[in-house]
Amino acid sequence: MHVTTNSGTGGSETRTLGVGMVGYAFMGRAHSHAWRNVSAFFDLPVRPVLAAIAGRSKERTEAAAASLGWAAVETDWRDLINRDDVQIVDICTPGDSHAEIAIAALEAGKHVLCEKPMANTVEEAVAMTEAAERAAARGVRSMVGFNYRRVPAVAFARRLVAEGRLGELRHVRAQYLQDWIVDPEFPLVWRLQKDKAGSGALGDIGAHIIDTAQFITGRLITGVSAITETFVKERPLAEESAGLSASSGAAATGEVTVDDAALFIGRMEGGMLASFEATRMATGRKNALRIEINGSLGSLAFDFEAMNELWFHDHTLAGAEGGFRRIIVTEPDHPYAGAWWPPGHGLGYDHTFTHEAKDFLEAIANGTDPSPSFAEGLRVQKVLAAVERSAAEGSRWTTVEDVEENA
Ligand SMILES: NC(=O)c1ccc[n+]([C@@H]2O[C@H](COP(=O)([O-])OP(=O)(O)OC[C@H]3O[C@@H](n4cnc5c(N)ncnc54)[C@H](O)[C@@H]3O)[C@@H](O)[C@H]2O)c1
Repeated sequence: MHVTTNSGTGGSETRTLGVGMVGYAFMGRAHSHAWRNVSAFFDLPVRPVLAAIAGRSKERTEAAAASLGWAAVETDWRDLINRDDVQIVDICTPGDSHAEIAIAALEAGKHVLCEKPMANTVEEAVAMTEAAERAAARGVRSMVGFNYRRVPAVAFARRLVAEGRLGELRHVRAQYLQDWIVDPEFPLVWRLQKDKAGSGALGDIGAHIIDTAQFITGRLITGVSAITETFVKERPLAEESAGLSASSGAAATGEVTVDDAALFIGRMEGGMLASFEATRMATGRKNALRIEINGSLGSLAFDFEAMNELWFHDHTLAGAEGGFRRIIVTEPDHPYAGAWWPPGHGLGYDHTFTHEAKDFLEAIANGTDPSPSFAEGLRVQKVLAAVERSAAEGSRWTTVEDVEENA
C-alpha cells in the first residue's frame, strides 16, 4: 500500500497520502475543499496532502493551484500520474477522459477517485472495472464520486431501510430537477455534447438518482421503459465554461446532441416499482434531488434543496398520529454529522465531498474496498444504456441483461 510515514514534530507519526487532481473547475474546487479540510474534522488514519493538479493551460492551472492550495502543477495528466509524490489520482474532468486517465492511473499503482458518471459508455466502464479489479488485487483502491450517498439524511435513510423500519419495500419515486439550460441562448457547453458527456440530463443527474435509489434500498434496477427529449436543438457555441455557467459571444450555433430530459419507469429487485425523472428544464428547481420510498411499514422522503431534513412516516402509528414528520439530520449519532457542528447547525453541498474523501481515505488505510466501487459505477452505466436504448426504440421494455448481452 502506498502510504508515506512522516515523523511529526511531537514524536507522533502522521501517515500521508499525496493527491493529484485532474481538472480544477467546478468539481476541482469542490474536491480541493474536501481534501484541504477533511483531516481537520475527521480523525483519520492518513492525512491527504494536496500534491499537484493537472490542467491543459499552464497559466490557468498555476492560478488554480495558488487559489485552491495545491503545491505543484502539471500540464499533462500523464505527468501527474507518474509523480512520486502522488498516490491518489482524483479525476474531475468531463466523462470523455475518465476511462483513459483512470486505467492509466490504476496501472501505475495509484488509487483512483473518479467523478460520475463513471464513463461515457458501457464498454469504457467495463474496461475501467477490469482495471480496478486487477489493481485491487495489488491493494490499489478505486471509487466513483456519487457524493449524494454522503448526505447525512441519505445515509440515514439507508440505515432506516436496512433496520426494516419501512417493512416490505414497494415504491421508489425519484427526481433530479434543475433549470440552468432553460434559456435557448445558453451556450453549447460540453454537457450538451454526446462525445464529451456521453448523455445529457440522463448521465449528468439521472445517474445520481439511479445510484441514490439503489443505495438507499439496497436493491438494483433490473429493467426500464424510457422517454427522452431535447427541447432546444441548436445553441450558440460556448467561449468559456465552468460547471453550470458559460459565456458566448458567438453568432455560430451548434447541435445539441444529448437529451434535455429523461423519464423512465423501472423494476427493482424484490418486486419494487420505480419512477425516475431527470431534467435540466424544470424552471424554478435548482438542484432538487428528490426521492420518496414507500414500504409496508412506512415511507421516507428527501429533497436535496432541504438537505438537512428527512421526512419519515411511521405507518405503525397510522391513524390519529400518522403522517410524515421532519427529522433534522444533524444529531451526533446521524451519519457523519457528529464530526461537525452542534445539532441544528446544518451542513451544505460541500460537506458531501468531505465525507467522500473521508470514506475513501479510510478504505485505503484499512485495506478495504470503498463503495461505490467501479463495479457499482458500471451497473449504473448499464442502467443509463438501457434507458437510452429503450427511448430509442419507442420505450420498449429493456433489461440490464439486454444491455449486458449486447454490450
Ligand atoms: N458529484 C457531483 O455532484 C458533480 C457535480 C458536477 C460535476 N460532476 C462531474 O464532474 C466531472 C467534471 O465536471 P465539472 O462540472 O467540474 O466540469 P467543469 O467544466 O467545471 O471542469 C472540467 C475541468 O476539466 C478540465 N479538463 C477537461 N479535459 C481535460 C483534459 N483532457 N486534461 C486535463 N483537464 C481537462 C477543464 O479544463 C476543467 O478544469 C464530470 O464528470 C461531471 O459529471 C459531478
